Amino acid sequence: YFFHITSLLSLSFNLVVIALEEKIIVSKLGDNATLSCLYRERELPLKDLRVYWQIADDQEVCPVVHALISGQDNESEQCIHFKNRTQLFWDRLENGNFSLLLLNVSQSDERTYKCVVLQTTEYTKVIHQAEVVLSLAASYSQPVLSGPIRNSSSTGEEMTFSCRSDNGYPKPNVYWINKTDNSHLLPSELKITSHTDGTYSVFSTLKVKATSNMQIECSVENKILRENLSANYTQQKQSSGSSPESHKNLEKSGRGAQAAAVVSIVILIGLLVVLTCWLWRRRSSTLVSYTGNE
Ligand SMILES: *[C@@H]1O[C@H](CO)[C@@H](O)[C@H](O)[C@H]1NC(C)=O
Ligand SMILES: *[C@@H]1O[C@H](CO)[C@@H](O)[C@H](O)[C@H]1NC(C)=O
Ligand SMILES: *[C@@H]1O[C@H](CO)[C@@H](O)[C@H](O)[C@H]1NC(C)=O
Ligand SMILES: *[C@@H]1O[C@H](CO)[C@@H](O)[C@H](O)[C@H]1NC(C)=O
Ligand SMILES: *[C@@H]1O[C@H](CO)[C@@H](O)[C@H](O)[C@H]1NC(C)=O
Ligand SMILES: *[C@@H]1O[C@H](CO)[C@@H](O)[C@H](O)[C@H]1NC(C)=O
Ligand SMILES: *[C@@H]1O[C@H](CO)[C@@H](O)[C@H](O)[C@H]1NC(C)=O
Ligand SMILES: *[C@@H]1O[C@H](CO)[C@@H](O)[C@H](O)[C@H]1NC(C)=O
Ligand SMILES: *[C@@H]1O[C@H](CO)[C@@H](O)[C@H](O)[C@H]1NC(C)=O
Repeated sequence: YFFHITSLLSLSFNLVVIALEEKIIVSKLGDNATLSCLYRERELPLKDLRVYWQIADDQEVCPVVHALISGQDNESEQCIHFKNRTQLFWDRLENGNFSLLLLNVSQSDERTYKCVVLQTTEYTKVIHQAEVVLSLAASYSQPVLSGPIRNSSSTGEEMTFSCRSDNGYPKPNVYWINKTDNSHLLPSELKITSHTDGTYSVFSTLKVKATSNMQIECSVENKILRENLSANYTQQKQSSGSSPESHKNLEKSGRGAQAAAVVSIVILIGLLVVLTCWLWRRRSSTLVSYTGNE
């Protein structure tokens, strides 16, 4: 799933205006990307054409991504990195659509590609060129905001929030926002870790002085996908409470509450046992005295 952004750069040079078309394609990691190349000026038989898809960088040691020679795929020059990962759209070639399907894209495919169409009748000449920039992206997971963890040993009550989000690409921007006035708050920690599949995870913490009616939001931005995912914390009216969604992530007081619950259940069971024993003894003693009286 990808979309195209076409930007036109116009360069004027000695009264001649050259329009240089550059396409940017954004693809998600692991998806198939279509690099487009259209030549619509003349209908030419495929046997008289050569189509090269290559890495646009002149320094590239292994530049051939895909080659179509005399109407046939030619794998002899194809770089190993692209073996079994490229295909042209055979039903579209006759219409001058030389778009290339690149399968299962990874970060190493994040390059600028060039499509070169040559006509091979009489002598070989370039009749068309197009460049495509492939950018990769992956959506971050819905951020999880946890906390606050209260620290009353410091001057004024300090609260620590943390926010994490996983498996996105490229590296994200993390914003902490005070929803009361929409101001940005500076995190005390921002840790970005990379995974073997090329994606990143982010963990950020925020320390703030406790105030009343706090509303805090953590927002994770993917610049390429123009995606902002956010999680928020809204302080509840009761002084003891924390919001329900943050409660499950509240490690310290969560464990405390669990321990308290276990202790109270044990005490309750104890009381019940004592009560049952007492009732049983009372009942059996009255029974004994009753039979005694009989
Ligand atoms: C990519 O294309 C291949 C072959 O056409 C197909 O099997 C695969 O499901 C496609 N993958 C995605 C993510 O669309
Ligand atoms: C591929 O192209 C080379 C020259 O670049 C040629 O020698 C070879 O025969 C071609 N192979 C096929 C299968 O067309
Ligand atoms: C490409 O596919 C062929 C046949 O499916 C296989 O023999 C070959 O090893 C594959 N090459 C690479 C580089 O994956
Ligand atoms: C060229 O072919 C590709 C692949 O089938 C298609 O997605 C694209 O829309 C085509 N472009 C035009 C202008 O027809
Ligand atoms: C896609 O490529 C990655 C490496 O970039 C590989 O681990 C994975 O197995 C590939 N998936 C498919 C369906 O070929
Ligand atoms: C609590 O605050 C004190 C004083 O600022 C600091 O030394 C301590 O490390 C803090 N504890 C936690 C758990 O943040
Ligand atoms: C958020 O903004 C309000 C209004 O400006 C301010 O009173 C409050 O202290 C701020 N909260 C934090 C945690 O900075
Ligand atoms: C994402 O949110 C941040 C902080 O509010 C903002 O600066 C940025 O422009 C937003 N980006 C998008 C793509 O909405
Ligand atoms: C905070 O998040 C909850 C769901 O997590 C949402 O229902 C609510 O509208 C959000 N509040 C604000 C002020 O963004």
